[in-house]
Amino acid sequence: MPTNLSLLNNSQIKECLKSKSLKIGVIGIGRIGLPTALCIANSGLETIGIDINEKLVNMVNSKDYPLKDEPEFDKIFENVISQKKLSATTDITEAIPKCDVVILSLPTPMNNQNVPDYTALLTVGKSLNELLSDGQIVIVESTVEPGFVENELLELIEGPQKSLKSGVDFHLAVCPETANPGEIMKDFQKLPRLVGSIEERISPIVSELYTYVFGVELIQMPNCKTANAVKLTTNVFRDINIAFVNELALLFEKLGIDTHTVIDAAKRKYNFQPHFPGPGVGGPCLPVNSYQYLNSAKKIDDNFLQIVQAARKINETMPHHVINLLISAFEQSEKNLDNSTVAILGVSYKPNVHDIQIAPSEQIIKLLNQKNVKLKIFDPYFISETVFEEKLKNSIDDAINASDAIVIVTGHKEFDNLDLEKISKSMNKPILIDCTGKINPLQAKSKGIIFRGIGRGN
Ligand SMILES: NC(=O)c1ccc[n+]([C@@H]2O[C@H](COP(=O)([O-])OP(=O)(O)OC[C@H]3O[C@@H](n4cnc5c(N)ncnc54)[C@H](O)[C@@H]3O)[C@@H](O)[C@H]2O)c1
Repeated sequence: MPTNLSLLNNSQIKECLKSKSLKIGVIGIGRIGLPTALCIANSGLETIGIDINEKLVNMVNSKDYPLKDEPEFDKIFENVISQKKLSATTDITEAIPKCDVVILSLPTPMNNQNVPDYTALLTVGKSLNELLSDGQIVIVESTVEPGFVENELLELIEGPQKSLKSGVDFHLAVCPETANPGEIMKDFQKLPRLVGSIEERISPIVSELYTYVFGVELIQMPNCKTANAVKLTTNVFRDINIAFVNELALLFEKLGIDTHTVIDAAKRKYNFQPHFPGPGVGGPCLPVNSYQYLNSAKKIDDNFLQIVQAARKINETMPHHVINLLISAFEQSEKNLDNSTVAILGVSYKPNVHDIQIAPSEQIIKLLNQKNVKLKIFDPYFISETVFEEKLKNSIDDAINASDAIVIVTGHKEFDNLDLEKISKSMNKPILIDCTGKINPLQAKSKGIIFRGIGRGN
Protein backbone atom coordinates (compact mmCIF):
# COMPACT_ATOMS: atom_id res chain seq x y z
CA MET A 1 0.00 0.00 0.00
CA PRO A 2 1.40 3.43 -0.95
CA THR A 3 2.77 5.75 1.72
CA ASN A 4 0.46 8.69 2.36
CA LEU A 5 3.10 11.40 2.56
CA SER A 6 0.54 14.01 3.59
CA LEU A 7 0.19 12.25 6.97
CA LEU A 8 3.91 12.37 7.72
CA ASN A 9 5.89 15.13 9.36
CA ASN A 10 8.92 16.65 7.70
CA SER A 11 11.49 14.41 9.35
CA GLN A 12 9.47 11.29 8.49
CA ILE A 13 9.35 12.44 4.85
CA LYS A 14 13.10 13.01 4.89
CA GLU A 15 13.53 9.53 6.32
CA CYS A 16 11.41 8.01 3.51
CA LEU A 17 13.66 9.72 0.99
CA LYS A 18 16.85 8.78 2.78
CA SER A 19 15.81 5.15 3.09
CA LYS A 20 14.69 5.28 -0.56
CA SER A 21 11.43 3.61 0.32
CA LEU A 22 9.26 5.70 -2.03
CA LYS A 23 8.07 4.61 -5.45
CA ILE A 24 7.49 7.30 -8.06
CA GLY A 25 5.43 6.97 -11.23
CA VAL A 26 6.08 9.28 -14.15
CA ILE A 27 3.26 9.27 -16.71
CA GLY A 28 4.56 10.40 -20.10
CA ILE A 29 8.24 9.56 -20.63
CA GLY A 30 8.99 11.81 -23.59
CA ARG A 31 11.45 14.67 -23.94
CA ILE A 32 10.81 15.91 -20.40
CA GLY A 33 9.33 12.91 -18.60
CA LEU A 34 12.13 10.45 -19.37
CA PRO A 35 14.97 12.69 -18.11
CA THR A 36 12.82 13.44 -15.05
CA ALA A 37 12.28 9.73 -14.40
CA LEU A 38 15.99 9.13 -14.92
CA CYS A 39 16.99 11.72 -12.34
CA ILE A 40 14.49 10.37 -9.82
CA ALA A 41 15.76 6.82 -10.36
CA ASN A 42 19.34 8.06 -10.19
CA SER A 43 18.61 9.51 -6.75
CA GLY A 44 17.87 5.95 -5.64
CA LEU A 45 14.06 6.03 -5.66
CA GLU A 46 12.34 3.23 -7.55
CA THR A 47 10.73 4.79 -10.61
CA ILE A 48 8.18 3.54 -13.10
CA GLY A 49 7.78 5.31 -16.42
CA ILE A 50 4.30 4.91 -17.86
CA ASP A 51 3.61 5.70 -21.51
CA ILE A 52 1.15 4.69 -24.22
CA ASN A 53 4.01 4.49 -26.72
CA GLU A 54 4.89 0.80 -26.68
CA LYS A 55 7.98 1.26 -28.81
CA LEU A 56 9.36 3.83 -26.38
CA VAL A 57 8.59 1.61 -23.39
CA ASN A 58 10.37 -1.32 -25.05
CA MET A 59 13.37 0.86 -25.87
CA VAL A 60 13.70 1.97 -22.26
CA ASN A 61 13.33 -1.56 -20.91
CA SER A 62 15.88 -2.87 -23.39
CA LYS A 63 18.42 -0.20 -22.37
CA ASP A 64 18.15 1.72 -25.64
CA TYR A 65 18.22 5.39 -24.71
CA PRO A 66 15.88 7.33 -27.02
CA LEU A 67 16.96 10.95 -26.46
CA LYS A 68 20.28 10.74 -28.29
CA ASP A 69 20.50 14.52 -28.79
CA GLU A 70 20.27 15.16 -25.05
CA PRO A 71 23.75 15.29 -23.51
CA GLU A 72 24.74 13.59 -20.23
CA PHE A 73 21.71 11.37 -19.77
CA ASP A 74 23.02 8.30 -21.61
CA LYS A 75 25.39 7.38 -18.76
CA ILE A 76 22.76 7.93 -16.08
CA PHE A 77 20.39 5.83 -18.16
CA GLU A 78 22.74 2.86 -18.33
CA ASN A 79 23.37 3.16 -14.63
CA VAL A 80 19.74 3.27 -13.45
CA ILE A 81 18.56 0.57 -15.83
CA SER A 82 21.29 -1.83 -14.74
CA GLN A 83 20.53 -1.09 -11.08
CA LYS A 84 16.85 -1.79 -11.85
CA LYS A 85 15.80 1.57 -10.43
CA LEU A 86 13.86 2.51 -13.57
CA SER A 87 11.41 0.43 -15.53
CA ALA A 88 8.79 1.36 -18.08
CA THR A 89 5.32 0.07 -18.81
CA THR A 90 2.24 0.80 -20.88
CA ASP A 91 0.03 -0.56 -18.09
CA ILE A 92 -1.16 2.42 -16.07
CA THR A 93 -3.71 0.27 -14.18
CA GLU A 94 -1.04 -1.97 -12.79
CA ALA A 95 1.58 0.70 -12.16
CA ILE A 96 -0.26 3.56 -10.46
CA PRO A 97 -1.63 1.79 -7.37
CA LYS A 98 1.96 0.90 -6.44
CA CYS A 99 3.18 4.50 -6.54
CA ASP A 100 3.40 6.98 -3.66
CA VAL A 101 3.80 9.96 -5.96
CA VAL A 102 2.59 10.30 -9.54
CA ILE A 103 4.18 12.88 -11.85
CA LEU A 104 2.35 13.89 -15.04
CA SER A 105 4.64 14.86 -17.89
CA LEU A 106 2.04 14.54 -20.60
CA PRO A 107 2.00 16.49 -23.86
CA THR A 108 -0.07 19.68 -24.05
CA PRO A 109 0.04 20.60 -27.76
CA MET A 110 -2.50 22.62 -29.71
CA ASN A 111 -4.73 21.56 -32.60
CA ASN A 112 -4.50 22.99 -36.12
CA GLN A 113 -6.81 25.84 -35.08
CA ASN A 114 -4.24 26.83 -32.43
CA VAL A 115 -6.52 25.70 -29.63
CA PRO A 116 -4.71 24.05 -26.69
CA ASP A 117 -5.30 20.32 -26.60
CA TYR A 118 -5.32 18.81 -23.11
CA THR A 119 -6.59 15.38 -24.22
CA ALA A 120 -3.65 13.45 -22.71
CA LEU A 121 -4.03 15.06 -19.28
CA LEU A 122 -7.80 14.68 -19.37
CA THR A 123 -7.57 10.99 -20.36
CA VAL A 124 -5.06 10.24 -17.64
CA GLY A 125 -7.00 12.34 -15.12
CA LYS A 126 -10.03 10.15 -15.78
CA SER A 127 -8.00 6.96 -15.31
CA LEU A 128 -6.51 8.26 -12.07
CA ASN A 129 -10.03 8.48 -10.66
CA GLU A 130 -10.10 4.70 -10.72
CA LEU A 131 -6.51 4.13 -9.65
CA LEU A 132 -5.86 6.43 -6.69
CA SER A 133 -7.30 6.14 -3.19
CA ASP A 134 -4.48 6.09 -0.70
CA GLY A 135 -3.61 9.78 -0.51
CA GLN A 136 -1.02 9.72 -3.28
CA ILE A 137 0.37 13.05 -4.44
CA VAL A 138 -0.18 13.85 -8.12
CA ILE A 139 2.23 16.46 -9.50
CA VAL A 140 1.48 18.09 -12.85
CA GLU A 141 4.67 19.10 -14.64
CA SER A 142 2.97 19.66 -18.01
CA THR A 143 2.50 23.25 -19.14
CA VAL A 144 -1.14 24.26 -18.85
CA GLU A 145 -3.25 27.40 -18.65
CA PRO A 146 -3.71 28.94 -15.22
CA GLY A 147 -6.80 27.36 -13.66
CA PHE A 148 -6.78 24.13 -15.69
CA VAL A 149 -5.41 22.02 -12.82
CA GLU A 150 -7.71 23.31 -10.08
CA ASN A 151 -10.78 23.15 -12.32
CA GLU A 152 -10.86 20.61 -15.17
CA LEU A 153 -8.18 18.21 -13.95
CA LEU A 154 -9.21 18.19 -10.31
CA GLU A 155 -12.81 17.54 -11.29
CA LEU A 156 -11.83 14.58 -13.48
CA ILE A 157 -9.67 12.94 -10.83
CA GLU A 158 -12.45 13.36 -8.27
CA GLY A 159 -14.83 11.75 -10.77
CA PRO A 160 -18.41 12.64 -11.78
CA GLN A 161 -19.83 11.11 -8.58
CA LYS A 162 -17.01 12.64 -6.49
CA SER A 163 -15.88 9.12 -5.71
CA LEU A 164 -12.44 10.47 -4.75
CA LYS A 165 -11.99 13.35 -2.35
CA SER A 166 -9.19 15.80 -3.07
CA GLY A 167 -7.11 16.31 0.09
CA VAL A 168 -8.00 12.83 1.37
CA ASP A 169 -7.82 10.19 -1.36
CA PHE A 170 -5.28 12.13 -3.39
CA HIS A 171 -3.48 15.46 -3.33
CA LEU A 172 -2.87 17.63 -6.37
CA ALA A 173 0.11 19.90 -6.98
CA VAL A 174 2.00 21.45 -9.88
CA CYS A 175 5.70 21.78 -10.53
CA PRO A 176 5.90 23.15 -14.09
CA GLU A 177 8.93 22.01 -16.03
CA THR A 178 11.09 24.80 -17.41
CA ALA A 179 14.07 22.92 -18.87
CA ASN A 180 15.35 23.66 -22.33
CA PRO A 181 15.75 20.75 -24.80
CA GLY A 182 19.40 20.11 -25.56
CA GLU A 183 20.36 21.37 -22.10
CA ILE A 184 17.89 19.50 -19.92
CA MET A 185 20.44 18.01 -17.53
CA LYS A 186 22.13 21.38 -17.00
CA ASP A 187 18.78 23.08 -16.46
CA PHE A 188 17.60 20.36 -14.06
CA GLN A 189 20.64 21.07 -11.92
CA LYS A 190 20.51 24.84 -11.93
CA LEU A 191 17.01 26.21 -12.55
CA PRO A 192 14.81 26.85 -9.52
CA ARG A 193 11.47 25.05 -9.74
CA LEU A 194 8.02 26.44 -9.05
CA VAL A 195 5.67 24.60 -6.79
CA GLY A 196 1.99 25.17 -6.08
CA SER A 197 -0.72 22.92 -4.68
CA ILE A 198 -4.44 22.76 -3.99
CA GLU A 199 -3.78 22.35 -0.26
CA GLU A 200 -1.00 24.59 0.99
CA ARG A 201 0.51 21.82 3.12
CA ILE A 202 1.38 19.71 0.04
CA SER A 203 3.84 22.17 -1.54
CA PRO A 204 6.52 21.63 1.15
CA ILE A 205 6.28 17.85 0.62
CA VAL A 206 6.73 18.25 -3.14
CA SER A 207 9.62 20.62 -2.44
CA GLU A 208 11.27 18.03 -0.21
CA LEU A 209 11.10 15.44 -3.02
CA TYR A 210 12.39 17.79 -5.74
CA THR A 211 15.18 19.15 -3.54
CA TYR A 212 16.20 15.58 -2.79
CA VAL A 213 16.23 14.59 -6.48
CA PHE A 214 17.44 17.74 -8.22
CA GLY A 215 19.10 19.74 -5.44
CA VAL A 216 17.59 23.00 -6.68
CA GLU A 217 15.68 25.82 -5.03
CA LEU A 218 11.90 25.47 -4.95
CA ILE A 219 9.91 28.67 -5.29
CA GLN A 220 6.70 28.39 -3.29
CA MET A 221 3.73 29.73 -5.21
CA PRO A 222 0.46 30.62 -3.48
CA ASN A 223 -1.49 28.18 -5.70
CA CYS A 224 -1.34 26.08 -8.86
CA LYS A 225 -2.60 28.78 -11.23
CA THR A 226 0.10 31.25 -10.18
CA ALA A 227 2.81 28.64 -10.73
CA ASN A 228 1.39 27.89 -14.19
CA ALA A 229 1.20 31.62 -14.96
CA VAL A 230 4.90 32.02 -14.13
CA LYS A 231 5.80 29.22 -16.50
CA LEU A 232 3.71 30.70 -19.34
CA THR A 233 4.99 34.22 -18.69
CA THR A 234 8.66 33.29 -19.10
CA ASN A 235 8.02 31.66 -22.47
CA VAL A 236 5.52 34.21 -23.81
CA PHE A 237 7.99 36.95 -22.84
CA ARG A 238 10.41 35.34 -25.28
CA ASP A 239 7.81 34.92 -28.03
CA ILE A 240 6.95 38.63 -27.79
CA ASN A 241 10.57 39.78 -27.71
CA ILE A 242 11.52 37.62 -30.67
CA ALA A 243 8.55 39.10 -32.55
CA PHE A 244 9.85 42.57 -31.64
CA VAL A 245 13.31 41.89 -33.09
CA ASN A 246 11.77 40.13 -36.09
CA GLU A 247 9.75 43.23 -36.85
CA LEU A 248 12.78 45.44 -36.29
CA ALA A 249 14.71 43.12 -38.62
CA LEU A 250 12.18 43.78 -41.39
CA LEU A 251 12.53 47.53 -40.84
CA PHE A 252 16.33 47.45 -40.60
CA GLU A 253 16.62 45.56 -43.88
CA LYS A 254 14.89 48.54 -45.52
CA LEU A 255 16.97 51.11 -43.59
CA GLY A 256 20.31 49.44 -44.34
CA ILE A 257 20.97 48.68 -40.67
CA ASP A 258 22.36 45.40 -39.42
CA THR A 259 20.07 43.97 -36.70
CA HIS A 260 22.80 41.82 -35.14
CA THR A 261 25.11 44.83 -34.80
CA VAL A 262 22.29 46.71 -33.08
CA ILE A 263 21.56 43.86 -30.67
CA ASP A 264 25.25 43.30 -29.89
CA ALA A 265 25.63 46.93 -28.88
CA ALA A 266 22.24 47.20 -27.16
CA LYS A 267 23.04 44.28 -24.86
CA ARG A 268 25.85 46.31 -23.33
CA LYS A 269 23.08 48.19 -21.51
CA TYR A 270 22.39 46.37 -18.24
CA ASN A 271 18.60 46.16 -18.65
CA PHE A 272 18.46 45.01 -22.28
CA GLN A 273 17.89 41.29 -22.87
CA PRO A 274 19.05 40.17 -26.29
CA HIS A 275 16.69 38.23 -28.55
CA PHE A 276 17.51 37.44 -32.15
CA PRO A 277 15.57 37.48 -35.40
CA GLY A 278 14.87 34.24 -37.23
CA PRO A 279 12.58 32.35 -39.59
CA GLY A 280 9.82 32.01 -36.97
CA VAL A 281 9.32 30.60 -33.49
CA GLY A 282 8.65 26.89 -33.17
CA GLY A 283 8.90 24.01 -30.74
CA PRO A 284 6.49 22.47 -28.29
CA CYS A 285 6.58 25.46 -25.94
CA LEU A 286 6.72 29.08 -27.08
CA PRO A 287 3.98 29.18 -29.76
CA VAL A 288 1.75 26.84 -27.76
CA ASN A 289 2.22 28.82 -24.56
CA SER A 290 1.23 32.06 -26.31
CA TYR A 291 -1.92 30.36 -27.56
CA GLN A 292 -2.58 28.97 -24.07
CA TYR A 293 -2.55 32.51 -22.68
CA LEU A 294 -4.69 33.72 -25.59
CA ASN A 295 -7.14 30.90 -24.91
CA SER A 296 -7.44 31.99 -21.27
CA ALA A 297 -7.77 35.65 -22.27
CA LYS A 298 -10.38 34.97 -24.95
CA LYS A 299 -12.74 33.48 -22.36
CA ILE A 300 -12.85 36.94 -20.77
CA ASP A 301 -12.48 39.32 -23.71
CA ASP A 302 -11.25 38.89 -27.30
CA ASN A 303 -9.21 42.07 -26.96
CA PHE A 304 -7.11 40.87 -24.06
CA LEU A 305 -3.41 40.29 -24.68
CA GLN A 306 -3.23 42.07 -28.02
CA ILE A 307 0.53 42.16 -27.77
CA VAL A 308 0.60 38.34 -27.71
CA GLN A 309 -1.73 38.22 -30.73
CA ALA A 310 0.55 40.61 -32.60
CA ALA A 311 3.66 38.66 -31.65
CA ARG A 312 2.17 35.43 -32.96
CA LYS A 313 1.16 37.11 -36.21
CA ILE A 314 4.66 38.52 -36.78
CA ASN A 315 6.47 35.31 -35.90
CA GLU A 316 4.13 33.29 -38.10
CA THR A 317 4.79 35.49 -41.13
CA MET A 318 8.58 35.09 -40.94
CA PRO A 319 8.68 31.99 -43.23
CA HIS A 320 7.05 34.18 -45.91
CA HIS A 321 9.80 36.71 -45.40
CA VAL A 322 12.39 33.98 -46.01
CA ILE A 323 10.73 33.30 -49.36
CA ASN A 324 10.76 37.04 -50.14
CA LEU A 325 14.50 37.18 -49.46
CA LEU A 326 14.96 34.22 -51.78
CA ILE A 327 12.87 35.87 -54.50
CA SER A 328 14.88 39.07 -54.24
CA ALA A 329 18.17 37.14 -54.45
CA PHE A 330 16.96 35.22 -57.52
CA GLU A 331 15.94 38.51 -59.15
CA GLN A 332 19.42 39.89 -58.56
CA SER A 333 20.98 36.75 -60.04
CA GLU A 334 18.60 36.85 -63.00
CA LYS A 335 17.82 33.17 -62.36
CA ASN A 336 14.28 31.81 -62.05
CA LEU A 337 13.11 30.63 -58.62
CA ASP A 338 10.32 28.53 -60.14
CA ASN A 339 11.67 25.07 -60.98
CA SER A 340 15.06 25.89 -59.47
CA THR A 341 16.90 23.68 -56.95
CA VAL A 342 17.24 25.01 -53.42
CA ALA A 343 19.27 23.45 -50.61
CA ILE A 344 17.71 23.79 -47.16
CA LEU A 345 20.10 23.45 -44.23
CA GLY A 346 18.33 22.53 -41.01
CA VAL A 347 14.77 21.48 -40.28
CA SER A 348 14.78 21.38 -36.44
CA TYR A 349 12.82 24.15 -34.76
CA LYS A 350 15.98 25.24 -32.98
CA PRO A 351 19.71 24.49 -33.09
CA ASN A 352 21.23 21.21 -31.97
CA VAL A 353 18.08 19.19 -31.28
CA HIS A 354 16.30 16.38 -33.08
CA ASP A 355 12.89 18.04 -32.92
CA ILE A 356 10.66 19.44 -35.65
CA GLN A 357 7.56 20.34 -33.63
CA ILE A 358 5.97 23.49 -35.13
CA ALA A 359 9.29 24.12 -36.93
CA PRO A 360 9.30 27.14 -39.29
CA SER A 361 11.09 24.90 -41.82
CA GLU A 362 7.77 23.14 -42.48
CA GLN A 363 6.14 26.32 -43.77
CA ILE A 364 9.26 27.29 -45.75
CA ILE A 365 9.27 23.86 -47.41
CA LYS A 366 5.55 24.13 -48.15
CA LEU A 367 5.90 27.58 -49.71
CA LEU A 368 8.81 26.43 -51.88
CA ASN A 369 6.90 23.34 -52.97
CA GLN A 370 4.09 25.63 -54.11
CA LYS A 371 6.64 27.31 -56.37
CA ASN A 372 7.72 23.94 -57.82
CA VAL A 373 11.17 24.37 -56.36
CA LYS A 374 13.20 21.16 -56.18
CA LEU A 375 14.40 20.79 -52.59
CA LYS A 376 17.58 19.18 -51.34
CA ILE A 377 17.42 19.18 -47.56
CA PHE A 378 20.13 18.36 -45.04
CA ASP A 379 19.95 18.32 -41.28
CA PRO A 380 22.68 16.62 -39.24
CA TYR A 381 20.04 15.52 -36.70
CA PHE A 382 17.81 13.89 -39.35
CA ILE A 383 20.30 12.26 -41.70
CA SER A 384 18.45 10.37 -44.46
CA GLU A 385 15.17 10.56 -42.50
CA THR A 386 11.88 11.59 -44.09
CA VAL A 387 10.69 14.90 -42.67
CA PHE A 388 7.63 16.86 -43.84
CA GLU A 389 7.29 14.27 -46.63
CA GLU A 390 10.78 15.06 -47.91
CA LYS A 391 13.60 12.51 -47.92
CA LEU A 392 16.58 14.27 -46.39
CA LYS A 393 20.13 14.06 -47.75
CA ASN A 394 22.89 12.25 -45.93
CA SER A 395 25.54 14.94 -46.31
CA ILE A 396 25.75 18.66 -46.63
CA ASP A 397 27.58 18.29 -49.94
CA ASP A 398 24.73 16.20 -51.31
CA ALA A 399 22.39 19.08 -50.59
CA ILE A 400 24.58 21.92 -51.79
CA ASN A 401 26.10 20.49 -54.97
CA ALA A 402 24.35 21.68 -58.12
CA SER A 403 21.81 23.74 -56.16
CA ASP A 404 20.85 27.24 -57.27
CA ALA A 405 20.57 28.57 -53.73
CA ILE A 406 21.15 27.62 -50.10
CA VAL A 407 18.86 28.58 -47.24
CA ILE A 408 20.28 28.10 -43.73
CA VAL A 409 17.13 27.68 -41.66
CA THR A 410 18.40 26.22 -38.37
CA GLY A 411 21.57 27.38 -36.66
CA HIS A 412 22.96 23.91 -35.84
CA LYS A 413 26.57 23.98 -34.63
CA GLU A 414 27.50 21.86 -37.66
CA PHE A 415 26.80 24.95 -39.82
CA ASP A 416 29.13 27.19 -37.80
CA ASN A 417 32.02 27.29 -40.22
CA LEU A 418 30.53 26.81 -43.64
CA ASP A 419 33.17 27.06 -46.33
CA LEU A 420 31.97 30.10 -48.29
CA GLU A 421 34.71 29.65 -50.87
CA LYS A 422 33.55 26.10 -51.57
CA ILE A 423 29.91 27.17 -51.66
CA SER A 424 30.75 29.91 -54.11
CA LYS A 425 32.63 27.52 -56.39
CA SER A 426 30.06 24.74 -56.26
CA MET A 427 27.20 26.86 -57.58
CA ASN A 428 26.45 28.90 -60.64
CA LYS A 429 25.65 32.49 -59.51
CA PRO A 430 25.59 31.31 -55.88
CA ILE A 431 22.76 32.49 -53.64
CA LEU A 432 22.86 32.19 -49.85
CA ILE A 433 19.99 33.06 -47.53
CA ASP A 434 20.87 33.03 -43.84
CA CYS A 435 18.04 32.89 -41.29
CA THR A 436 20.40 32.32 -38.38
CA GLY A 437 22.84 35.25 -38.20
CA LYS A 438 25.80 32.87 -38.56
CA ILE A 439 27.10 34.25 -41.84
CA ASN A 440 28.94 37.53 -42.11
CA PRO A 441 27.23 39.29 -45.05
CA LEU A 442 30.37 41.10 -46.18
CA GLN A 443 32.44 37.90 -46.20
CA ALA A 444 29.76 36.10 -48.22
CA LYS A 445 29.55 38.95 -50.71
CA SER A 446 33.35 39.11 -51.01
CA LYS A 447 33.23 35.51 -52.30
CA GLY A 448 30.84 36.52 -55.05
CA ILE A 449 27.78 35.13 -53.27
CA ILE A 450 24.41 36.85 -53.63
CA PHE A 451 23.58 37.08 -49.96
CA ARG A 452 20.43 37.86 -48.00
CA GLY A 453 20.06 37.45 -44.25
CA ILE A 454 17.11 38.09 -41.97
CA GLY A 455 17.62 41.56 -40.54
CA ARG A 456 20.84 42.11 -42.49
CA GLY A 457 20.54 45.57 -43.90
CA ASN A 458 24.05 45.52 -45.35
N1 LIG B 1 9.90 19.67 -24.64
C1 LIG B 1 10.10 20.84 -24.04
O1 LIG B 1 10.88 21.67 -24.47
C2 LIG B 1 9.38 21.18 -22.77
C3 LIG B 1 9.99 22.02 -21.83
C4 LIG B 1 9.30 22.32 -20.67
C5 LIG B 1 8.01 21.84 -20.50
N2 LIG B 1 7.45 21.05 -21.44
C6 LIG B 1 6.10 20.57 -21.20
O2 LIG B 1 6.22 19.25 -20.68
C7 LIG B 1 5.10 18.47 -21.12
C8 LIG B 1 5.62 17.23 -21.83
O3 LIG B 1 6.30 17.66 -22.98
P1 LIG B 1 7.32 16.73 -23.78
O4 LIG B 1 8.07 17.62 -24.68
O5 LIG B 1 8.06 15.82 -22.85
O6 LIG B 1 6.29 15.86 -24.64
P2 LIG B 1 6.62 14.55 -25.44
O7 LIG B 1 5.60 14.49 -26.52
O8 LIG B 1 8.06 14.45 -25.77
O9 LIG B 1 6.31 13.39 -24.38
C9 LIG B 1 5.03 13.12 -23.92
C10 LIG B 1 4.90 11.62 -23.72
O10 LIG B 1 3.60 11.38 -23.20
C11 LIG B 1 3.12 10.18 -23.81
N3 LIG B 1 1.66 10.15 -23.73
C12 LIG B 1 0.75 10.81 -24.48
N4 LIG B 1 -0.49 10.53 -24.07
C13 LIG B 1 -0.36 9.66 -23.05
C14 LIG B 1 -1.29 8.97 -22.21
N5 LIG B 1 -2.59 9.15 -22.36
N6 LIG B 1 -0.81 8.16 -21.27
C15 LIG B 1 0.53 7.97 -21.11
N7 LIG B 1 1.45 8.58 -21.88
C16 LIG B 1 1.01 9.41 -22.83
C17 LIG B 1 3.62 10.23 -25.22
O11 LIG B 1 3.64 8.95 -25.80
C18 LIG B 1 5.02 10.83 -25.02
O12 LIG B 1 6.00 9.84 -24.88
C19 LIG B 1 4.27 19.39 -22.02
O13 LIG B 1 3.26 19.99 -21.27
C20 LIG B 1 5.27 20.44 -22.47
O14 LIG B 1 4.65 21.66 -22.78
C21 LIG B 1 8.11 20.68 -22.56
